[in-house]
Amino acid sequence: VKIGEVMRSIAVGEVIESRLQGYEPGQLVQGMFGWQDYCATGPGGLFPVRRLPRGASIEASMSVLGLTGLTAYFGLLEVGAAKAGETVVVSGAAGATGSIAGQIARIKGCHAIGIAGGDEKCRYLTGDLGFCAAIDYKAENVAARLRQLCPQGIDVFFDNVGGRILDAAILNLAHKGRVVICGGIASYNEVAGSDGPRNYMNLVVRRARMEGFVVTDYFDRADRAIAELAAWVARGEVRYRVDVQHGLENAPAAVGRLFAGDNRGKQLLKIACTASAESDALLGRPGV
Ligand SMILES: NC(=O)c1ccc[n+]([C@@H]2O[C@H](COP(=O)([O-])OP(=O)(O)OC[C@H]3O[C@@H](n4cnc5c(N)ncnc54)[C@H](OP(=O)(O)O)[C@@H]3O)[C@@H](O)[C@H]2O)c1
Repeated sequence: VKIGEVMRSIAVGEVIESRLQGYEPGQLVQGMFGWQDYCATGPGGLFPVRRLPRGASIEASMSVLGLTGLTAYFGLLEVGAAKAGETVVVSGAAGATGSIAGQIARIKGCHAIGIAGGDEKCRYLTGDLGFCAAIDYKAENVAARLRQLCPQGIDVFFDNVGGRILDAAILNLAHKGRVVICGGIASYNEVAGSDGPRNYMNLVVRRARMEGFVVTDYFDRADRAIAELAAWVARGEVRYRVDVQHGLENAPAAVGRLFAGDNRGKQLLKIACTASAESDALLGRPGV
């Protein structure tokens, strides 16, 4: 994003005026609309505009049934190829993406272990989301705890963080382990660039694989994945939280919450009311 350009962001908005058939005023749509009150857009692009089904929850569409859920789904099942009986470790596990990845692992019969910051988040993982165990990276020695919790090694490491946590996971990989690089939030603000993973020679010793991915590459199969995620949510097998902040002027602070770990679930920012009270009420719905 260049200085002066609209900050990129996925958003849900309401059609005010349209020359495209099927997109009538009042229709809720999702797309790469950016941090702005109004957006002029068209079909196509990296993140094509999608219509939200009537009555769909904006919160779910912006989290578990949107980009976040798809990232967890394809990252874990396609890139990580997680299978029943395997040990799956997720970093950033109490966050939006990590919490869904860990729950999908549990549903698929994996042994799911989460890494998160603080006792409250760790209790959320084991108490509310059904992770087998949680590691508080702020208070515990992650490498030592992984060794203890994963005696046969980690089959799939779903990484949202990078840095020291990635180092600890690589050290504890199982034979033919897979490291899924979803993100690396620990180094996003490093001006000088990060040093890269230590212990990477363990990939050789363990015959392991490390692979990054971008969720947009899987959009052609999004509908099927969203249907499966929606069924899990409807049955209460996947739970999610959203954290709604308010006001465009608070956008930078809302982003800052991700780096401080202050967000409880998917970080959303509500910047405008929709024209219809009915649409607006959908955002007021409490998360599951
Ligand atoms: N590959 C893709 O296509 C794709 C798509 C979407 C998102 N992503 C990536 O997925 C990751 C998660 O995104 P999200 O939107 O779901 O955010 P999130 O996990 O809901 O929020 C970010 C969390 O990261 C943790 N964190 C922040 N700084 C940290 C640090 N230095 N060390 C360890 N943990 C730290 C915090 O939790 P704690 O309190 O536990 O520290 C924070 O709550 C991000 O890295 C994002 O870039 C990738």
